[in-house]
Amino acid sequence: MFQELENKVVVITGAGSGIGKSFAENFGKAKAKVVLNYRSDRHLDELEELKNTIQSAGGQAIAVQGDVSVEEDVKHLVQSAVETFGTIDIMINNAGFEKPIPTHEMSLDEWQKVIDINLTGAFIGSREAINQFLKEDKKGVIINTSSVHDTIPWPNYVNYAASKGGMKLMMETMSMEYAQYGIRINNISPGAIVTEHTKEKFSDPKTREETLEMIPAREIGEAQDVANVALFLASDLASYIHGTTLYVDGGMTNYPAFMGGKG
Ligand code: BGC
Repeated sequence: MFQELENKVVVITGAGSGIGKSFAENFGKAKAKVVLNYRSDRHLDELEELKNTIQSAGGQAIAVQGDVSVEEDVKHLVQSAVETFGTIDIMINNAGFEKPIPTHEMSLDEWQKVIDINLTGAFIGSREAINQFLKEDKKGVIINTSSVHDTIPWPNYVNYAASKGGMKLMMETMSMEYAQYGIRINNISPGAIVTEHTKEKFSDPKTREETLEMIPAREIGEAQDVANVALFLASDLASYIHGTTLYVDGGMTNYPAFMGGKG
């Protein structure tokens, strides 16, 4: 399956951990050429391991440091893909950040940081990829990691919800502009997924129980559940999918409070 992804060049931001790391592993298994963006040196050991995993699965990998909210870093990232592997086929804007702060206590810096990473970062990554696709006359693919909070409001995370809500219309608008060139742009919106970032909160029994109540499938997802959708969206199986959002959330966006049949 997904043989067409062999040798495809895929750039993944925030690839050092969490869902981004699973994306990278999956594309490695598909024998793609993977450009792993990471921000912090903290993840260097994991990145080395990830590169080895990809290489032993038959893929290729390079790691490129950069902050997605810095325009020059993202330009450098896409250029590195082109310089090393000759092209870019798939851009995955995955890097993201979240931290709960009540709105009335949120400083402008705290607001801006999340908008810059989650929304502006994805804008720059998409723009740079689109420029390269147009230059090469290539039917490239862009996938953004969004969130169920592109549609579900999230108290104490106003910056995050605004960034993801913005990402939805950003993706839809870009898709409307570039679908005519065969460029496919879509979002994946995960719900509650266990990763090293969320492990702590979901291992608290009370939080876990409260979260499960919001999920009709009554289970918390795995990073692999999300990463599998990225392979699909990047593949020829998805060749007519433009400008849409695939929710990977166990039904969280489907009004779980109505499960009991009341109302
Ligand atoms: C966030 C998670 C959260 C989930 C469901 C995601 O976008 O990254 O921390 O558990 O939404 O609320």
